Amino acid sequence: MSESFVLEDARESASPARDEDRRVFIKSFGCQMNVYDAERMADIAAEEGYREAHAVEDADLIVLNTCHIRERASEKIYSELGKLRELKDERRRAGRGTTLVVAGCVAQAEGAEILRRQPAVDVVVGPQSYHRLPELVREARLRPGVVAADFPAEDKFAHLPISTPGAIRRRGVAAFVTVQEGCDKFCSFCVVPYTRGAEASRPVRAVVDEIARLASAGVREVTLLGQNVNAYHGLSEDGRGVGLAGLIRAAAAVPGIARVRYATSHPDDMSDDLIAAHRDVAALAPFLHLPVQSGSDRLLKAMNRRHRVADYLDIVARVRAARPDIAFSSDFIVGYPGETDADFEATLALVRAVAFASAYAFKYSARPGTPAAEAPGQIDAATKAQRLARLQVLIEAQLQAFNRATVGRRFEVLFEKPGRREGQVIGRSPYMQAVFADGPRSLIGVMAEVEIIGLEPHSLRGRVVSPAS
Ligand code: 5AD
Ligand code: SF4
Repeated sequence: MSESFVLEDARESASPARDEDRRVFIKSFGCQMNVYDAERMADIAAEEGYREAHAVEDADLIVLNTCHIRERASEKIYSELGKLRELKDERRRAGRGTTLVVAGCVAQAEGAEILRRQPAVDVVVGPQSYHRLPELVREARLRPGVVAADFPAEDKFAHLPISTPGAIRRRGVAAFVTVQEGCDKFCSFCVVPYTRGAEASRPVRAVVDEIARLASAGVREVTLLGQNVNAYHGLSEDGRGVGLAGLIRAAAAVPGIARVRYATSHPDDMSDDLIAAHRDVAALAPFLHLPVQSGSDRLLKAMNRRHRVADYLDIVARVRAARPDIAFSSDFIVGYPGETDADFEATLALVRAVAFASAYAFKYSARPGTPAAEAPGQIDAATKAQRLARLQVLIEAQLQAFNRATVGRRFEVLFEKPGRREGQVIGRSPYMQAVFADGPRSLIGVMAEVEIIGLEPHSLRGRVVSPAS
């Protein structure tokens, strides 16, 4: 890029839209933690005077909050950036400046490489540094191409603005709260320990205060989030270490909170205390996403998973004993290096043994810098595709069977929004199923007892029996 070009860019960006007209558009990819981060970035932008743009074309500030977990996820970002470059050029021709930010895990993993592949990007900011967004955007106006992707020692959460009641209300009655970040497990296929860094937990008070603010603005359900959330070990105000079970109890005790969930967990951290919370805490949803990845002990060892199939089945049995109406969900990887037909059959056997309510299956994707990317026995694309298809057929059959079995049951549904038809509301069952029912809009935000009376392809039909709270 020539010097004069830089100056031209700086001049253009130095005269953005008038402050009261500034708009931000944030697009998030990947996991729920990214959704949470995107909301916090929206809070930062709002504090800086940006209003939400309803279309990306109207945005003076565009943020892509990226995911690096599989190759396809990160390649998608570059094709998205190609389109945004054209948009930026178009806006420039119309005399409007645009600041383009790449945030999230691709930003963390690739840093300045993003600027080389797509020079239209103004700011690259990793997940631990986005609280510095205003200063980075200002810096980029003078000199585009700012990178902030180290792991700073400062506590990001302490620097984030508080969501306004209006912003909370717009986001709905079910909210995410990140309580733990990073991962020390180093599964051999996974980039997370490199992109999100070492495990760190927020103090109990900070989490409870945030939940109390959400609840006072109408939130009824919180999902406690962490890359490895059941490794949570935050400090209480008197300096005691508190595990996830203690945090769940504290969250459930916040007035207004009717349901608590947590994601994502590692089998190795399913402590007795946490299993007991499934028995004791009524507000804890009877649904557990517990990735197992494979049903072969040989592969679990190669993956550095620290648990065997028998350990997983034992946890499932103990959680079921504690909370008989619990349902499970999981993640699976097919085509991990060295996976034989027998290993894959063992995965199918595990799925049959557990009977999941839902599950996600992925083809193994080699991630640069992870041990598995260098491992011998990489599996060809056709075998991966074939195994994925077989596993998905089984998962889909289990999902349908689970949904069918809920017909005739009664459980609590938290209604979240109006339905497509007038006079209908839509919510979620304890098992994350979408449930719609006839009822007034005043049911939104209400946890109601619902009888499931029918099955649709992607949802359940319910009849409100009584508002339960
Ligand atoms: N290839 C395929 N799937 C992966 N996952 C994580 N890393 C990879 C990879 N390299 C899956 C795991 C994890 C989920 C979030 O993504 O199943 O639980
Ligand atoms: Fe990745 Fe989860 Fe393993 Fe951590 S526990 S390395 S986040 S797959």
